[in-house]
Amino acid sequence: MILPKPQLLEWGSKLQIQSIGLRYEVLRKPLGLCFAPEELLQEETQWHIGMVSGERVEGILLIKFIGENVAKMRQVAVAESSQGKGIGKEMVRYAELLCSQNHIEKIELHARKSAVPFYLSLGYHTEGAEFEEVGIPHIKMSIKL
Ligand SMILES: CC(C)(COP(=O)(O)OP(=O)(O)OC[C@H]1O[C@@H](n2cnc3c(N)ncnc32)[C@H](O)[C@@H]1OP(=O)(O)O)[C@@H](O)C(=O)NCCC(=O)NCCS
Repeated sequence: MILPKPQLLEWGSKLQIQSIGLRYEVLRKPLGLCFAPEELLQEETQWHIGMVSGERVEGILLIKFIGENVAKMRQVAVAESSQGKGIGKEMVRYAELLCSQNHIEKIELHARKSAVPFYLSLGYHTEGAEFEEVGIPHIKMSIKL
């Protein structure tokens, strides 16, 4: 097995388009939701960080710049068959490294309640009360870099 490696996926590339399928399978399909084309078009200026094994995207996350020195991590997904093997952790650490190299001082995210233990294990803190997004409970989390 080729170990997946983190890399920035160029917007519109084959791998970036493949990663939309992964996000759909892991994040949207189980909730009966899909992506609106305009939603995907807004992502051109965001970083698409993938964990790539050969020609297969095993993990994906997006980084959106939301303020001076602040970024939002979103759409964090690892292929179901590859979960629990450290891929998510390596992908988040790579995103943090790229962010700190680019003067980002804080990363925020809206964590699904089920994923809170994952982010806690990586040093993220919860902020405020639970709220609903895409029909399921979320909690705001963040880390200072
Ligand atoms: C959440 C997700 C991104 C984690 O990625 P992953 O590759 O499965 O996680 P890793 O194997 O890198 O786990 C890293 C650490 O988090 C812990 N962890 C991961 N998921 C966990 C969970 N649901 N509950 C408790 N701990 C968890 C692991 O035990 C591991 O701890 P360790 O470093 O002490 O061994 C992935 O499981 C996923 O895509 N889930 C479905 C979609 C989702 O919920 N995305 C997040 C939206 S906010």
